[in-house]
Amino acid sequence: MNNENIIHIDAKDFFLVEPSEIYAEQISEYRQEFLDADSSMDGCGPLRRCENPIEYIAECKKYKNKETIPNDFVVTTQFLYVRKSDMRIVGMIQVRHYFNDWLSEFGGHIGYAIRPTERRKGYAVSMLKAILPYCKELGLEKILISCIDGNIGSEKTILKNGGVYESTVCEPDRKRNLKRFWITL
Ligand SMILES: CC(C)(COP(=O)(O)OP(=O)(O)OC[C@H]1O[C@@H](n2cnc3c(N)ncnc32)[C@H](O)[C@@H]1OP(=O)(O)O)[C@@H](O)C(=O)NCCC(=O)NCCS
Repeated sequence: MNNENIIHIDAKDFFLVEPSEIYAEQISEYRQEFLDADSSMDGCGPLRRCENPIEYIAECKKYKNKETIPNDFVVTTQFLYVRKSDMRIVGMIQVRHYFNDWLSEFGGHIGYAIRPTERRKGYAVSMLKAILPYCKELGLEKILISCIDGNIGSEKTILKNGGVYESTVCEPDRKRNLKRFWITL
């Protein structure tokens, strides 16, 4: 196991780690599972367009570095949520270190997903909980998370982590209502 970029080890059986080559095959499988299930890859960064996991890993590194992030994007750290017992990636979560206009209104600081075959096991709740100390280390005092109105699983995940509902906004491009929640760190 590459210990260098592991930032959090759960009390349970999971850790958060930045994508690296040792997870390449797993990243491919993870991506394929979302494609097969036609599921939304929230919080996975450029995974959908990166068929090659090595390219994905390189892209994540690019998004973490202020010198190399594409125009209009903000510095973002991507994590894999890995179950220690079988080293399976069960989810992905990303932290945007600050806002651009779109993030401040719609996107928020954090995006996440759990792979379809690992849902309804409490993993989203524990993954979000696990990322909060990292957000604090970045100097954030409160974080904004938005979810589509009607995404009960995500809304409960946020509420179970201390999220407080603020407002609902309509994202005009995609014509969807997003519920905004704040978690004070
Ligand atoms: C939303 C998502 C992250 C939830 O992941 P998960 O690991 O299944 O969630 P958890 O098991 O931690 O469940 C959290 C709570 O939501 C509930 N829940 C989860 N999915 C649900 C669903 N589809 N319908 C109703 N409730 C649901 C759980 O029962 C649990 O509540 P409880 O403790 O009161 O029983 C997952 O469905 C997903 O990845 N969806 C696609 C991407 C996405 O929507 N990301 C969020 C973007 S804001």
